[in-house]
Amino acid sequence: MIENIARTRDMNLHLKSGGSALHILKSITFAINPGEVVSVVGPSGSGKTSLLMVLGGLEKVSDGLVSVGRSDLTGLDEDQLADVRRQNIGILFQNFHLIPSMTALENVALALEIAFDDLPLSEIRSRARAALAEVGLAERETHLPSALSGGEQQRVGLARAIVTRPRLLLADEPTGNLDQETAASAIDLLFSLARRNTMAVLLITHDNGLAVRADRRMRMDRGELRELEREAALS
Ligand SMILES: Nc1ncnc2c1ncn2[C@@H]1O[C@H](COP(=O)(O)OP(=O)(O)O)[C@@H](O)[C@H]1O
Ligand SMILES: [Mg+2]
Repeated sequence: MIENIARTRDMNLHLKSGGSALHILKSITFAINPGEVVSVVGPSGSGKTSLLMVLGGLEKVSDGLVSVGRSDLTGLDEDQLADVRRQNIGILFQNFHLIPSMTALENVALALEIAFDDLPLSEIRSRARAALAEVGLAERETHLPSALSGGEQQRVGLARAIVTRPRLLLADEPTGNLDQETAASAIDLLFSLARRNTMAVLLITHDNGLAVRADRRMRMDRGELRELEREAALS
């Protein structure tokens, strides 16, 4: 049997807001397999980012099961969660979250330094360089984020997310700040990297045109996640 990359079973998330508890994620049972690209659409406030935080070990669930690789996340402390994240997961954000004072290469290298504190500097440099080359930015190593276009900044974000060779990439509306054409090419790149590296991707997106390109599509509504049918006309 193929091992799932990440899964949840009857998972609930309640968060306190003021005096009351909100039921954010409702009995979610979900699994993502190695190399699989799964898209999640749904209205703003429905719980998509919360699901990503749970799978990334950044939010503790109220009850139910969550596992990443072989680790059951529900019993882990913060340090152990950080280890699971480092070993398995890359995260891509809508607003890129690059450090403005660091060059493209330094931004990518930093992710490696944080993930593996015993890697020699020469190894860090060569791996960071290779990741930037993979996203087509070999010529932009010494550029600061402010000297890059939005699409280029997101490609640096992608290089940073994959430089640790995660088995699961969590992408939260990664094209939300890009124009349509740039968004499409960023997603082409994301998909080809996923295929080449057998990296599973959970892609949260508002863009249905991008969502339909995933292997599986899901929709979040008021904290409930359901599978959508495949659309007939796929390109
Ligand atoms: N830290 C928090 N405390 C309380 N409520 C929160 C917190 N974070 C998010 N929420 C609420 O959880 C719901 C789902 O939010 P979110 O997962 O960000 O949705 P989406 O990503 O689909 O827009 C929203 O109603 C939001 O207000
Ligand atoms: Mg969100």
